[in-house]
Amino acid sequence: MPNSFEVSGRTPAGSRVEHLSGDIGLPEAELLRLFRAAFGGVDTLWPANQRWLLWSSDKLLGHVSVQRRWFVVNKQYFEGWFVGGVCADPVVQRSGIGTLLLRQAHTDLTLQELGFAVLNCGHPLVGFYENVGYVKISDRALYIRDGKLALDEDPALAISFKQGFDVTALMCEAFPFGFDF
Ligand SMILES: CC(C)(COP(=O)(O)OP(=O)(O)OC[C@H]1O[C@@H](n2cnc3c(N)ncnc32)[C@H](O)[C@@H]1OP(=O)(O)O)[C@@H](O)C(=O)NCCC(=O)NCCS
Repeated sequence: MPNSFEVSGRTPAGSRVEHLSGDIGLPEAELLRLFRAAFGGVDTLWPANQRWLLWSSDKLLGHVSVQRRWFVVNKQYFEGWFVGGVCADPVVQRSGIGTLLLRQAHTDLTLQELGFAVLNCGHPLVGFYENVGYVKISDRALYIRDGKLALDEDPALAISFKQGFDVTALMCEAFPFGFDF
């Protein structure tokens, strides 16, 4: 069931966050508009199990999604969330939307079963993610793209949602994110 709640702070007046599980009720046209504005050249929706959307009136201004995945690190299997599609509309960037959506996602995920989330980002954004609790687990990332292994020289970061899970267990030479889209 979609779940909406009011937000406050530096975000645009009347903002609210919507939490979606699965793709029922997905506002495809608004998402594509936001992705094109924030990432440029994107014309697909990333598959996701859960999304957090920030709306101001009927305008979509921010998005965070997670996908459930298995990761094999240092010969151990870990099931966690792969965070993707983190963005805020360029018109309202640096007004706290990205931070707010990630914090809300973490609050919701902490109440769920899996113990951690991982993501991959460019070097300039490491501080942004560290501010909301992520720590670096690798200097680079490993993907499967078009059936081939691809190494990205972008850091991998992780956050724990459970006291018993220490993200240092995920530290490795190149974090294996798996399939890329
Ligand atoms: C990255 C992004 C999601 C950040 O969202 P946002 O709502 O603009 O960020 P916030 O206002 O919550 O930022 C909080 C703090 O994080 C840091 N930060 C945010 N964006 C940053 C950037 N582009 N570069 C460096 N630091 C950044 C700053 O310290 C900022 O605080 P300040 O504004 O007081 O200096 C947004 O800029 C965006 O959509 N960028 C384009 C898409 C993208 O690159 N997504 C990330 C994919 S990994």
